Amino acid sequence: MEIVLLPTPEDCARVVADAVAGSVAAARADGPVALGLATGSSPLLAYRELLARHRAGEFPTDGVTGYLLDEYVGLPAGHPESYLQTIRREITDELGIEAHGPDGAAADPLRAALDYEERLRAAGPVAVQVLGIGANGHVGFNEPGSSLVSRTRVKTLTERTRTDNARFFGGEVDAVPRHVLTQGLGTIRDARHLVLVATGGAKAAAVAEAVEGPLSASCPGSVLQLHPHVTVVVDEAAGSRLTRAAYYRYVLAHKLPAQGW
Ligand code: F6R
Repeated sequence: MEIVLLPTPEDCARVVADAVAGSVAAARADGPVALGLATGSSPLLAYRELLARHRAGEFPTDGVTGYLLDEYVGLPAGHPESYLQTIRREITDELGIEAHGPDGAAADPLRAALDYEERLRAAGPVAVQVLGIGANGHVGFNEPGSSLVSRTRVKTLTERTRTDNARFFGGEVDAVPRHVLTQGLGTIRDARHLVLVATGGAKAAAVAEAVEGPLSASCPGSVLQLHPHVTVVVDEAAGSRLTRAAYYRYVLAHKLPAQGW
């Protein structure tokens, strides 16, 4: 696992864009590419950076299809705060690529979870998966207690996560759906490269627990420790509780030219 500690969120965005663009470019040589996209605030600057590179012709996306991590259950199809609409608005429309996610509007969400798992299996493996982390350590919507080998399924959000996400629903916690469809931690691990980005002090405890804490369902983010190719990109605030920060900086400063992301 590579931990990249950088001064600002803008610096993080550039490294995340480098990592994503590098993995996509490598995978494009072998055919169609599944690009895993997280929703939420954490990757937004990186998405803007990727869009700027795309406009400049530096991030070609033909053959690339976007796949979401998760979706709310019960929002009508086309709802502006559904994750599919959000990701289209934030990145995939302008990249000129299709995006797919679990069908949270399906009459049978349990079936929709299995269908999405199957769709990912057919399209995958995901070449690179962008991840954020919740303040409680969740990745995707795998709340604490989620099995480290879970597959796509229905989950119930914690009140903490609903409160955190109320900002997207006019501040109204009651407007945030209780249930979601999310790739499981086992599903996420199937991606070839995981790139997690976190910024701000509110994420510091979750980042430290995920990266340096014990492997545990109590911190779903700790599943990163089981993956052979992980890039964790954090600003000073989000990395402020990492005990090995000096070593991570040392590693970054002495990276061999041949070592990409
Ligand atoms: C989003 C997702 C979540 C978020 C996490 C952090 O698709 O799966 O795990 O990445 O809740 O959210 P932000 O980035 O808004 O702080």
